[in-house]
Amino acid sequence: MGGVLGRAALPGLLRGPRAPGPCLLARSNSGEWPATRGSSWTRERTLVAVKPDGVQRRLVGDVIQRFERRGFKLVGMKMLQAPERVLAEHYHDLQRKPFYPSLISYMTSGPVVAMVWEGPNVVCSSRTMIGHTDSAEAAPGTIRGDFSVHISRNIIHASDSVEGARREIQLWFQSSELVDWADENHHSSIYAA
Ligand code: PPS
Repeated sequence: MGGVLGRAALPGLLRGPRAPGPCLLARSNSGEWPATRGSSWTRERTLVAVKPDGVQRRLVGDVIQRFERRGFKLVGMKMLQAPERVLAEHYHDLQRKPFYPSLISYMTSGPVVAMVWEGPNVVCSSRTMIGHTDSAEAAPGTIRGDFSVHISRNIIHASDSVEGARREIQLWFQSSELVDWADENHHSSIYAA
């Protein structure tokens, strides 16, 4: 969901009411990012969901390709007809918004593909990759900027904070549906926990 907490806490850093949210990464005194210091990083995961319009438009493969090319690691994926119970919880903070009924109607109009991606700063990076929530403001090269023209059909969701990601992953996935697999490719040095 949108960064309600982020917006409330950090109004001066935002570009607008629907800004995708700043990527706040606290540097250490040495100038290194804590998440990537040395040869290890604090494991970070995020929920990404291709919404019904993205599935209908055959964009699932493109989304996966972008995340894989970036170097992120897919640790969970499933296609499902999103249960209303899950959506009500997922969009709990938006229940009083005028667009809430149409948002739920849109999200139940067809299957979604939910994924969990892992990697250094994956929450922040995935928000940058998907682009502005309002497609009209999404930069070319981002997923929404390349494939969407309106906020009500904006193709994809990605968690807006590490805490939000943890909550959303628990909501959408059983822990048994997530796979911890050894990364033996060229990223293994940064992925070694
Ligand atoms: S708000 O109003 O500022 O709190 O909303 P925002 O944080 O920008 O967006 C939260 C989620 O609501 C979706 N959204 C909409 N869906 C359908 N129609 C309209 N008009 C609309 N406006 C916002 C928006 O895509 C966010 O959902 P996710 O799943 O996070 O993309």
